[in-house]
Amino acid sequence: MCHISVMPLEVSQYLVNKSNGLYVDCTFGFGGHTSLLLNKFKDIKIVAFDWDKDSEDRFLKREKGFGGRVIFIRDNFKNIKSRLSSINVNKVDGILADIGVSSKQFDDLNRGFSFNSCVLDMRMDKRNELTAKEVINSFSRKALASIFYRYGEEYKSRQITKAIFLHRKKGVINSAKELRDIVCSVKKTKYKIDPATKVFQALRIFVNDELENVETLVSVAPGLLNTKGRIVVVSFHSLEDRIVKQNFKQNLKDGKYKILTKKIVTPTHEEIRINPRIRSAKMRVAEKI
Ligand SMILES: C[S@@+](CC[C@H](N)C(=O)[O-])C[C@H]1O[C@@H](n2cnc3c(N)ncnc32)[C@H](O)[C@@H]1O
Repeated sequence: MCHISVMPLEVSQYLVNKSNGLYVDCTFGFGGHTSLLLNKFKDIKIVAFDWDKDSEDRFLKREKGFGGRVIFIRDNFKNIKSRLSSINVNKVDGILADIGVSSKQFDDLNRGFSFNSCVLDMRMDKRNELTAKEVINSFSRKALASIFYRYGEEYKSRQITKAIFLHRKKGVINSAKELRDIVCSVKKTKYKIDPATKVFQALRIFVNDELENVETLVSVAPGLLNTKGRIVVVSFHSLEDRIVKQNFKQNLKDGKYKILTKKIVTPTHEEIRINPRIRSAKMRVAEKI
């Protein structure tokens, strides 16, 4: 499945407040938002981040078409401040983060994000050492249960961990598929969503240190934005959204931000109908005062 950029109209309407400004797309992915912004605003420039090599390869293939208006940096967006400074950029006019995995990452069975993957990996950046396989096969019972509970809000975390440990005695858990079967031996399919959803979400968040990345990004953002510059964050689960919400509130209190989305922005029914994976997307926007 090809990646369809989430809330394209809303992203461009909210992000761009200066027609010849410099913007950061923290999550280049398929370059969907970047291309859209470049096409719509002919005088803007973009610094794009993504830590996945596939995204970098996609950028390199399309680089000529961007006409020198995009600089790509393969790194974790939590390093935005130092990486921008290394190219002599200290202030920008807008920051966009469309956090999470892309459809391509999700659908690739060699990446380990989906339930029927033949591996247990889940790293968005393969240069990082820790894989989901290592976590599942080598972490203590207490540590595993705490990951499932903390990052997945999985109420059966202890029972699931017990089942994983029983399995570990027999041999290594090698694939996402095997892990899903173990989770399903504890949690039965009662609802529409897969019983392993929360465990997979927790593992992914942990392996990629997702909450820490967002936390760092939103905490350095006010220092990077020019006056009237905006930060647009699209998140896909409540733990990330909470971090963004609290950060914006604090910056509002400190007189640094005005919040432009008093009511969070979500995809339209039509958008969800075409691309059901974005149903949990939430967009928050703030403007530097
Ligand atoms: C949902 S996709 C973005 C899609 C993009 N907005 C588009 O329209 O094509 C998320 C992308 O962000 C990247 N990503 C997630 N967390 C990241 C991080 N901490 N640092 C850098 N890139 C990250 C992923 O590798 C993935 O390619």
